[in-house]
Amino acid sequence: MKTTTLGGLKKTDFEAIVDGKQVSLFILTNKNGAEVAATNFGAKIVSIHVPDKTGKPTDVVLGKSNIRDYMNDQEPYFGAICGRTANRIAFGRFLLDGEKYELAVNNGPNSLHGGIKGYNSVVWDAKQIDEQSLQLSYLSPDGEEGFPGNLQVTVIYRLTDDNALEIEYQAETDKTTILNLTNHSYFNLSGEGDPYIGDHELQINATSFLPTNDVAIPLGRPEEVEDNTPFDFRSPKTIGAQIDDENTQLIYGNGYDHNFIIRKNEENELSFAARAVSPKTGIVLDTYTTEPGVQLYTGNFLDGSFVGKNGHTYPKRSAFCLEMQHYPDSIHHPDYPSVVLVPGETFRSKTIYRFSAG
Ligand code: BGC
Repeated sequence: MKTTTLGGLKKTDFEAIVDGKQVSLFILTNKNGAEVAATNFGAKIVSIHVPDKTGKPTDVVLGKSNIRDYMNDQEPYFGAICGRTANRIAFGRFLLDGEKYELAVNNGPNSLHGGIKGYNSVVWDAKQIDEQSLQLSYLSPDGEEGFPGNLQVTVIYRLTDDNALEIEYQAETDKTTILNLTNHSYFNLSGEGDPYIGDHELQINATSFLPTNDVAIPLGRPEEVEDNTPFDFRSPKTIGAQIDDENTQLIYGNGYDHNFIIRKNEENELSFAARAVSPKTGIVLDTYTTEPGVQLYTGNFLDGSFVGKNGHTYPKRSAFCLEMQHYPDSIHHPDYPSVVLVPGETFRSKTIYRFSAG
C-alpha cells in the first residue's frame, strides 16, 4: 500500500478522529500511471494524477494537503460529494407529501449543497475494495439538515485502466425524501496551481441551459442556446472566449454557474456530457453521466485567499467544475426530472471522468 501520493501528500497528514470516526487518505493506482487519492472526510477527491502529453504525471484537481485544512471552512466543497441535495433549493423550503420542510438558508436566500453540514463535511465509512476502488457509505439520519427519512448512501470511486475515474452512486430511504448527489471536483487540466482555466477548450453536449434569477435559481423552462452566444458550447471554444461578455446571465453568475441540459436519447442513459482540453498539457477530460444535467461552475468565487496543495493559492477562475446532477431547485419545478425517492426504490447514478493526453 502506498503511503505517499505522486504529488507528495502523506497518508499520515490525513489521519484523524472526526466526530468519533477514523479519517484517512486512500490512494488508488492503475497500470497506466494514473493515481487518485480520496479521503472519507466529505468523500473528497484530494488529487488526480494523470500523464500529460509528455507522460509527466500532472495533478488536475484543486485541494488541500492535510485534514486540518480540509476541516476549516474555506471552500468546503473541493472534490466533495454534495448532498443530500447538491445545488440550490429556493428559500430552503419545500413541500413533500403534504408536509412542509425547512432547511438551513446558507447561500443568499437559498439552501446550497445540503445545508450547514452537508455530506461534504461528514465522515463516511470507507472500505478500500482493491487497489483501484474505494467504497464510501453514509447513513444520513432522518431529520438531518431538515431532510426526511434515513437515507443510506453508497459511493464507489473506481480508477480504471484507461485512466477514468468512475463514480457510482446508490441510495435508499425509509421515508419519501429528495436527493441530488454530485461530485464537486475543481479541475485545472494545466495542473493545480495554474492560475486560469479561460484557455481550456470546452464542449458541452447540450442544446439548452437553465437561465436563472440573480440568486442562481432557474427561472423555469430550458432556453435553447443560440449560435455564437456565451452559452453555446455545442462546438469547442475556450471557456474564456465570452466569459466577460455583457450578458445578464454571466453577470448574475459572476461567470458561468449554470446547469446545462445534457442531450440524451432516453432518460438515465449513460451519455457524453462534456469535453475539456488544456492547451498547455494536452490533457483531455471526457465526461459521461446518467444524470440529466451538468452544472458548469468556473470558480468565480475563488479569490486566492487560502493556501492549497504545494503552497498554491487558487485565484478566481483557476478551476472549473462539471457537476453532474439533477437540475437546481427541482422540487419546485414539477416539469424537471424528479429528485423524489420513495421507500422500496433504489436510486442509482453513474458518472465517468476519463483523462487522456495528446
Ligand atoms: C455553485 C456555486 C458555488 C460553488 C461552491 C457551485 O456548485 O453553483 O455557486 O459558489 O458550488 O463551491
